[in-house]
Amino acid sequence: MEYIFSDKLSNLKASAIREILKVTNDPSVISFAAGSPAPNAFPVEDIKRFLCDIMDNEPITALQYSITEGYPPLREAVKKRMQTQHNYVPEKDDIVITTGGQQSVELACKIFLNEGDIAVCESPSFVGSLNSAKSYNAKLVGIELDEEGIRADILEKTLEENRNVKLMYLIPNFHNPTGKCMSLERRKKVYELAQRYNVLIIEDNPYGDLRFDGEDIPTIKSMDTDGRVIYCSSFSKIVAPGLRVGFTSTAPEITAKMVACKQASDVHTTMLSQMICARFLTECDMDAHLTRLRAIYRQKYQLMADCIEKEFSSKVTFTKPQGGLFIWATVPEGADVLEFCNRAIAEKVAVVPGNAFMTDDTLPTRCFRMNFSTPTDDQIREGCAILGRISKEMFGE
Ligand SMILES: Cc1ncc(COP(=O)(O)O)c(C=O)c1O
Repeated sequence: MEYIFSDKLSNLKASAIREILKVTNDPSVISFAAGSPAPNAFPVEDIKRFLCDIMDNEPITALQYSITEGYPPLREAVKKRMQTQHNYVPEKDDIVITTGGQQSVELACKIFLNEGDIAVCESPSFVGSLNSAKSYNAKLVGIELDEEGIRADILEKTLEENRNVKLMYLIPNFHNPTGKCMSLERRKKVYELAQRYNVLIIEDNPYGDLRFDGEDIPTIKSMDTDGRVIYCSSFSKIVAPGLRVGFTSTAPEITAKMVACKQASDVHTTMLSQMICARFLTECDMDAHLTRLRAIYRQKYQLMADCIEKEFSSKVTFTKPQGGLFIWATVPEGADVLEFCNRAIAEKVAVVPGNAFMTDDTLPTRCFRMNFSTPTDDQIREGCAILGRISKEMFGE
């Protein structure tokens, strides 16, 4: 049979990262390609205790159907935590629990994007979200970043020239893939532009709690006076991605539409996972847990940064993030980053070429992403030595 898939899928391709991750299933490959938490960051003992307790005392709640908005004790715990972070205002916002942060972004795209609408994003950006926008046949316009985040001058010009921009998708904290953090001034400017041109903002913040250096910067959501920010976050990077629990905080008119669509999609997020997250928030010392995670990532980041500094060609530059899971490296002008990544794979080290994160993966880039959270310390040392040798062979000392 010849399958004729919907037009909506015409722009959608399998993620290049997923393809690279297939290679990384080979245990002999050192992978700097993932975006996963460190193996020693998982609170396994807490989760084991919660699981046993849930099965002993509330098995039917865990195994029965439930409501789409989310497990009420989890919604309450998330509201409380989001209120202290100024990302939830009881009089103005509501919370929906979603199946990972990915579903929050996908639902936000689904309820707002018509075919032909423009969605503005940072370029590069998180490919999962770009694919969500693409799957509704929206046109993506990527805007480059400088040291303070998305370039406000280009954003303003884009909004001036394109009056059908419906939303902006932004990752202000420890941006995936660059690791950059948007400055406070830039956040204010972006919000002012969103107001002036009447554009919604999807603020995606899965990494905000993973700051290991410097001071927290207020979210754009915390500045929102007119209900135009759809704040999305997740338990994936701070508890466990396999649980698949995320959430959205935004205006009740928006959450109502998201709930209607989520109902049609997966009815509700897995109850067992939601119950584990609720217990984690209410029974564990979240601050102590995050302090432990930040210490793990600070050490791993520093080790990788030191190894890059020591081993790589001096012509390769790289970002120095204050949190999150990624370093973004740039090869010299005229150099072929794909060749570099392919040579690395041939020597069993995986990094992700920058074009995997572009709105159009044929756009030129000289960058590649390195993840420091998942590899062991020995793998960081060994992998950086191999990448360093290749970089010197290709770009000189
Ligand atoms: C920026 C960004 N948003 C969303 C997600 C999706 O996370 P989740 O596992 O919560 O669906 C990721 C995952 O890597 C991400 O990097």
